[in-house]
Amino acid sequence: MLAAHSASKAGGADAAALRPVALITGGSAGIGLAIAREFAAHGHDLLLVARDATKLEVAALTLARSFPVRIHLLALDVADADAVTRINRELLESGLTVAWLVNNAGTWLAGAICDSRPEDLDTA
Ligand SMILES: NC(=O)c1ccc[n+]([C@@H]2O[C@H](COP(=O)([O-])OP(=O)(O)OC[C@H]3O[C@@H](n4cnc5c(N)ncnc54)[C@H](OP(=O)(O)O)[C@@H]3O)[C@@H](O)[C@H]2O)c1
Repeated sequence: MLAAHSASKAGGADAAALRPVALITGGSAGIGLAIAREFAAHGHDLLLVARDATKLEVAALTLARSFPVRIHLLALDVADADAVTRINRELLESGLTVAWLVNNAGTWLAGAICDSRPEDLDTA
């Protein structure tokens, strides 16, 4: 089932009422999407995080065609200062708890890390 990220407000639900999800940053493409597929194949609900909302929607629709799990989406940049606050708010408002965290979002930098520019490392 594909659930809008603003769906189902829990508002103060106790811990036992929270629904466990696999939170996968960078879950809209590449390795993160492959991992999301594995969690979904094992019946686990998902919270996918990435910057591009359209890519997230496409990924969720693709997964939802194959797996009957709830898929929550949150479009944000994990490098933003308020990213953790926004993720926490989403978890609270949707009545979710993180059972698995796959902190995968990032960009592959070619070359030696000591040759990288600080601004590139911040985005990786
Ligand atoms: N592929 C490799 O050979 C390789 C090797 C070693 C390590 N890695 C690491 O594995 C991770 C995934 O690699 P991949 O090849 O699967 O990458 P990918 O295909 O480019 O996918 C990256 C995913 O992360 C998201 N993302 C990127 N920056 C983000 C940000 N600042 N905030 C939120 N989401 C962000 C992207 O969506 P949006 O662009 O919409 O945000 C996308 O969903 C990366 O951390 C990479 O450094 C990859």
